[in-house]
Amino acid sequence: MIVPSAYYRPLALGAPEPFREPPVRVERMIHFVPPHVEKIRARAGDLARQVDVVLGNLEDAVPADAKEAARAGFIEMAKATDFGAAGLWIRMNALDSPWALDDVIEIVGAVGDKLDVIMLPKVEGSWDVHYLDRLLAQLEARHGVKRPIMIHAILETAQGVMNVEEIACASPRMHGMSLGPADLAASRRMKTTRVGGGHPGYGVLVDKGAEGAARAFYQQDLWHYTIAKMVDACAANGIKPFYGPFGDFSDGEACEAQFRNAFLMGCVGAWTLHPSQVEIAKRVYSPDVEEVKFAKRIVEAMPDGTGAVMLDGKMQDDATWKQAKVIVDLARQIAEREPEAAERYGL
Ligand code: GLV
Ligand code: MG
Repeated sequence: MIVPSAYYRPLALGAPEPFREPPVRVERMIHFVPPHVEKIRARAGDLARQVDVVLGNLEDAVPADAKEAARAGFIEMAKATDFGAAGLWIRMNALDSPWALDDVIEIVGAVGDKLDVIMLPKVEGSWDVHYLDRLLAQLEARHGVKRPIMIHAILETAQGVMNVEEIACASPRMHGMSLGPADLAASRRMKTTRVGGGHPGYGVLVDKGAEGAARAFYQQDLWHYTIAKMVDACAANGIKPFYGPFGDFSDGEACEAQFRNAFLMGCVGAWTLHPSQVEIAKRVYSPDVEEVKFAKRIVEAMPDGTGAVMLDGKMQDDATWKQAKVIVDLARQIAEREPEAAERYGL
């Protein structure tokens, strides 16, 4: 156990001080790009104006014989591109893979000052975060990186889910975590070949009615338990929870439903693997205009956040004031980034 007084100590002489509070950033979509593809690299600047985060994916979906090209391509793209307000992340290869060490050493060495977050796949427990934490501190010190690079864990193994609470507070470098439904399904031996979303076989049948009457079947959310567990671990530790990938690019409606469930449960964003998902994530993870307007009325009706008032027949008190603050604060962050959103929200 790290004693409280040592928690925020840099892990290498000369490494930057860890963040006490993670930077406030709008991260509604983490947009995945394959950096070994030249025409994708060439469009990175345009992309950065449309998404909140550009992530160079080095892990799954990049063939083994393109791993080095993806790493080199990411470095080239990071050097050549102005990402403006968008965050720049990588998804490194898993710690037990032959590429992980060079991913970190080469990328931090070359573009450590531009890199905001490293997404760490297949995190099993706090030990995985501690390993990367120390390695990053050593490399930041060696290369004079001024701002700590943060770590984002993918929750995608049964052991990781079991240890989610210790992962969330493993280091002040923790940015947040994402649900990885594909690897998690495999790790748990779930019987689905889908990447996220529901399954037509997972649901409840209504009780038997009259003889011969048809019984309705309601599909349920396979990911509810894990998302709830992840959201609690993240919220309790002041880090951010995200829904991960939705693999059926032909079903925007189902993608939207999955993203929205996660948003309503507390997630702040999701991965976008296809351009069509960017608009969906932007819409879902920006609070609804009417909801923001109502939330503003609650906040204004109770300036010090205490007491009770009635608004449109609905009781408001200290707790609903806090709910309203969550929505108004998010809307303000988005409004700062997008003038059109400021207008929509009346902020
Ligand atoms: C993401 O990496 C997943 O496995 O779903
Ligand atoms: Mg995965």
